[in-house]
Amino acid sequence: MPTNESTEDAPRTPPPASAEEPSANGRPDASERPDTESSAAGGEAPTEPAMKPKLNINDLHFWYGDNHALQGITMDIQPHKVTALIGPSGCGKSTLLRCLNRMNELIQGTTLEGTILVDGQDIYAENTDPVMVRRRVGMVFQKPNPFPKTIYKNVAWGAEINGYTGDIDALVERSLRQAALWDEVKDRLHTNALDLSGGQQQRLCIARTLAVQPDVVLMDEPASALDPIATSKVEETITELKKDYTIVIVTHNMQQASRISDETAFLYMGRLIEMNPTDQLFTRPEKDRTEAYVTGRFG
Ligand SMILES: Nc1ncnc2c1ncn2[C@@H]1O[C@H](COP(=O)(O)OP(=O)(O)OP(=O)(O)O)[C@@H](O)[C@H]1O
Ligand SMILES: [Mg+2]
Repeated sequence: MPTNESTEDAPRTPPPASAEEPSANGRPDASERPDTESSAAGGEAPTEPAMKPKLNINDLHFWYGDNHALQGITMDIQPHKVTALIGPSGCGKSTLLRCLNRMNELIQGTTLEGTILVDGQDIYAENTDPVMVRRRVGMVFQKPNPFPKTIYKNVAWGAEINGYTGDIDALVERSLRQAALWDEVKDRLHTNALDLSGGQQQRLCIARTLAVQPDVVLMDEPASALDPIATSKVEETITELKKDYTIVIVTHNMQQASRISDETAFLYMGRLIEMNPTDQLFTRPEKDRTEAYVTGRFG
């Protein structure tokens, strides 16, 4: 619900703290990062055709009342990749994630400007149905939140309310397999989901999101409440999922970002400071502020 409020004061230029100008999509020119991807990918990159971004975010501004939480974010998110959003608490990671499936507009008194395209379609266009957007762009939350129902009903729920007419048993099995939970629960599908461990509950929530058959899966710190074993299961699941989905994940865990993501975007005070292939961002960051953050010197 964009307002007519003037944004003349809205900073649309890169952060003053950084002397370097990020390129339009927050990434350096290809000429500036000659051999990174090719060496990392064993020489595949030069022949890889240029992919159309799955999501294209252009000059995105977001306000909660007069709190200017996102200040001109421009970035592309590639299909079948895991993109990690990192940055200090309060920098706008969750806000950005929620803009990507129009969940922020459920919060009163907010204003959005800029555009977000999914497969080239403007998700905030007047004729775009927000319910359709949320179906296509699913969300997994920080805290596993299964319903107090059976495992089966948790997964079938989204499909049922969306009027799914196919084989629900098959959909439940497929979703649980994709979430790497099937083998652990196939003999107890009709028991209460709340009896699962935290890590299993989180994978169940991933299965529930997948059952709605989205293209893009947003995850807001999905493993932060889990122990290391459950975390590694969820990370394996995410790595598997990128074959079929585009994943955007918020994490405070630098090791996790470097283990599972292909690209990393570093946000600071509502702005995108740097977005690059993950190994590059962690080992050869372009901006001093990124380096300070990833080496633990602030934040
Ligand atoms: N529902 C809300 N209502 C009002 N302000 C909000 C709301 N959610 C976030 N904000 C504000 O927007 C800014 C960005 O918050 P956001 O939750 O996006 O940060 P974050 O990077 O996800 O932080 P964290 O790492 O702590 O989760 C903060 O100033 C925060 O206070
Ligand atoms: Mg957050």
